[in-house]
Amino acid sequence: MKAVQYDRFSNDINDIYFNTSAPLPEASGDNVVVKVMAAAVNPMDWKVQHGMFKDLWGGFSFMFTMGYEFAGTIHEISPSAPSTNFKAGDKVFAVQWGVQKPRGQHYDPLEDAPVGGAFAEYVLVPLSKLSRIPDGISFEKAAALPLAGTTAYEALFECVNLREGERILILGGSGAVGSIAIQLAKMYGASFVATTAPSRAVDYVNQFRVTDRVITCDTINWWEDPELKNIDVVFDAVCEQDAFEHAKKVLKSQGRFVTVSIGDPALGLDPTAHRPLEYAAWMCNWNDSKIQDKLIGLMAQGKLKMPIERMYEFTREGVLAMLERSEEGESLGKGVLNIALDS
Ligand SMILES: NC(=O)c1ccc[n+]([C@@H]2O[C@H](COP(=O)([O-])OP(=O)(O)OC[C@H]3O[C@@H](n4cnc5c(N)ncnc54)[C@H](OP(=O)(O)O)[C@@H]3O)[C@@H](O)[C@H]2O)c1
Repeated sequence: MKAVQYDRFSNDINDIYFNTSAPLPEASGDNVVVKVMAAAVNPMDWKVQHGMFKDLWGGFSFMFTMGYEFAGTIHEISPSAPSTNFKAGDKVFAVQWGVQKPRGQHYDPLEDAPVGGAFAEYVLVPLSKLSRIPDGISFEKAAALPLAGTTAYEALFECVNLREGERILILGGSGAVGSIAIQLAKMYGASFVATTAPSRAVDYVNQFRVTDRVITCDTINWWEDPELKNIDVVFDAVCEQDAFEHAKKVLKSQGRFVTVSIGDPALGLDPTAHRPLEYAAWMCNWNDSKIQDKLIGLMAQGKLKMPIERMYEFTREGVLAMLERSEEGESLGKGVLNIALDS
């Protein structure tokens, strides 16, 4: 089968292979084979390929197949699989990431992580990671949702526990994670939702009609904005440098801060380590199919949007164009690979 792979970390995205004879995965136990119809790009694709997290997740093994989120149909379930409501042919989507559900108050995202495998014609995935695609949602829409969606949901509702009536600032409302976060924050009752975005992306952010204030990050220091006072929660959804130091200037004394900046040494992973702040830590997406179910349900009801910027052909050129677009910035919405939508 065709698969996008690499055999070492490299700063050059051109060092990936478009392998046309990768071995087909085989279903076994609770791992099923899904025929991938569409898969979406995330900055994690090129960041991991560049070796940015190689010291955090030491057990990384090559040949590595890229791609952390996808949608497709179940191709094969092993006879030894546990009892399940899924059957061959079902339309499903998932995040192919390697962090399990949190245990206890917080969790340890350093144990496992990358799994990948979604930029391929077939992917092996545990039943527990799968969610169904409801009627009316296309494969490409489903593929574009789960990684950024679960990250935004987990940050807001399982890390900083956003409550009704609170005032929140979300850095990066034009990004995939940030745009889902601003929508969820408003939907779940935040009284004031502010966000930052480059000037070029203000119209894009405004299309969601959920923000009370959009601060242009290329013209203003958001921490000096007079409207940003007494903020309950700051969510850094872009890995902004010094975001925590700046956030302290706008947060209530017992406010909460979370960032997607994996391994941020200014913060660490103990959310109680920065008293009097109630919560301050970096977070890393973990697999949770129940959250995926919730998010796709909201999308099916028309309450949650994740725009697709562009579809890419499943060729070496198509994959490189998609990864380069993500890496160079300036994209608005998701890049999605058409792996088998025309079949
Ligand atoms: N910890 C985790 O589990 C986790 C999970 C998912 C994503 N992430 C990380 O989260 C970040 C965002 O991911 P994504 O998928 O949302 O990326 P994305 O869709 O590529 O969006 C990034 C957006 O943020 C904008 N931006 C960049 N710097 C900004 C700043 N300082 N202030 C405001 N906006 C800014 C970009 O605009 P320009 O292009 O004009 O700069 C772009 O519109 C990435 O660094 C990714 O690696 C972490």
